[in-house]
Amino acid sequence: MAQTDAHQSYVFDLENEAESARLLHQNSLINAITGGLIPETVHLPYNARVLDVACGPGGWGLDMARANPSVEVVGVDLSQLMIADAGMQAWAEGIRNVTFRVMDVLASPLGFPDDTFDFILIRLISTFMKPSDWPRLLRECRRVLRPGGSIQLLEAEWGTTSSFAFERIGTLFIRAYHLTGRNFSTEGRNIGITPRLKYLLKGAGFQDMKQQAHFIDFSADQRLHEDIYQDILVAFKLVQPFLINAGVTTQEEIESLYQRVLLEMRQDDFSGIGSLLSVWGQKFRTPL
Ligand SMILES: C[S@@+](CC[C@H](N)C(=O)[O-])C[C@H]1O[C@@H](n2cnc3c(N)ncnc32)[C@H](O)[C@@H]1O
Repeated sequence: MAQTDAHQSYVFDLENEAESARLLHQNSLINAITGGLIPETVHLPYNARVLDVACGPGGWGLDMARANPSVEVVGVDLSQLMIADAGMQAWAEGIRNVTFRVMDVLASPLGFPDDTFDFILIRLISTFMKPSDWPRLLRECRRVLRPGGSIQLLEAEWGTTSSFAFERIGTLFIRAYHLTGRNFSTEGRNIGITPRLKYLLKGAGFQDMKQQAHFIDFSADQRLHEDIYQDILVAFKLVQPFLINAGVTTQEEIESLYQRVLLEMRQDDFSGIGSLLSVWGQKFRTPL
């Protein structure tokens, strides 16, 4: 498939079937962790239209469409492969209230008229966004959201674990983020996106912000351990070219760390905590 400059900005190969499968699996995990498809305080009107920005293989959109037959769901993503996977799944299940489109969301304007949607989800996009990309995208989201509509952002920070290799890969990942201008942390110590979310929404004119944090215990004795292990098995393999191209590691070093993290995560006393922050706000008719 043709690769564009926009393709290069994602930390994984976005035309990769393993990444598409990983994101579908991760969608079920996130929904289990957050406990729902939309925040509890958001009430959608009957016949609502909702948009998933950078929807990947469409996990959230498909779940939303299955659970709410009166809601019209649209998912957009740059990956032709993931959009094809999402469309095929909808077709195979006969789900008619969801559509998926290839779209580069960094190319302004977003391809929708003003006041189109009642709810917009933007989940885990710091994997391709630079800090300077956020204000423009969020202003576009505000434009295509109807007055009274809501937007939700959900992002993660790197976890903390007892595994040497997990910690070391984290250091390399965050250094590569810093070198490629992706993180918000001035010292480059962490990704630093989560504390910025509500200010980014505020800066784009959204109001009445609310937030909810989710801690994820993926220690060896926890229910989520196996799911997170499976996610890491794929993610830590797929991220290797990004780390090597950023110049923070060699193929030899990262492969040896990869093998080590898989062993260390299987130890009985492995402990690990991750975090997600969800922030949502509303578009009122008049911005502050
Ligand atoms: C970490 S995934 C998150 C997917 C989805 N939001 C979820 O939570 O499952 C990031 C997604 O951003 C997409 N992406 C990367 N660059 C993009 C761009 N410029 N425009 C639209 N989507 C993009 C990738 O293809 C990938 O599906």
